[in-house]
Amino acid sequence: SPSDNEEGYDLDLFCIPKHYAADLEKVYIPHGLILDRTERLAREIMKEMGGHHIVALCVLKGGYKFFADLLDYIKALNRNSDRSIPMTVDFIRLKSYYNDQSTGEIKVIGGDDLSTLTGKLHMLCFKDIIDTGKTMKTLLELLKQYNPKMVKVASLLVKRTPRSVGYRPDFVGFEVPDKFVVGYALDYNEYFRDLNHICVISETGKEKYKA
Ligand code: HPA
Ligand code: MG
Repeated sequence: SPSDNEEGYDLDLFCIPKHYAADLEKVYIPHGLILDRTERLAREIMKEMGGHHIVALCVLKGGYKFFADLLDYIKALNRNSDRSIPMTVDFIRLKSYYNDQSTGEIKVIGGDDLSTLTGKLHMLCFKDIIDTGKTMKTLLELLKQYNPKMVKVASLLVKRTPRSVGYRPDFVGFEVPDKFVVGYALDYNEYFRDLNHICVISETGKEKYKA
């Protein structure tokens, strides 16, 4: 995984929605860089999973931008190279955070009934961020009931935190420091999903959008 830029960038260097100007500390990963890295991840996924039919499982809500952009890159590879990955898509919703703290329990909502595919499923889960890793571990336990042949996880971000349970996804976009980040569909109490760049939230922002 690329090493992180600990400082981040001044907000003034980029276009930020006016309604968030005071609520952010720094731009941490600009939108263009997210897309460039995502393009490369698509290539790696193609290399490892090409040839199989996969179920691309988007973990909502935070994963939707990463999922949509990565699938676009995989689709581009599918139509322009010798190998291709036939895909179907599915969506589940998880909820576990309250302010910037994990509630410790996760709720899973939605998703198709995959039981007919038991035993022959190749799954690729798309997650916005692995923080402690607890949510992902719980989700993987849940997916085991379908006896999938393969489950891989692609996470745009992995947080470097002492609270980590040691879980590491198969495909990682960027590592981030132990700060609460928002944007590109990552939220703080549902706010900041309407922000292109991944940014570090300010104390003002935390207070303003506190649940
Ligand atoms: N930002 C947004 N959502 C999150 C984070 C984060 O840093 N960690 C876990 N969920
Ligand atoms: Mg969230």
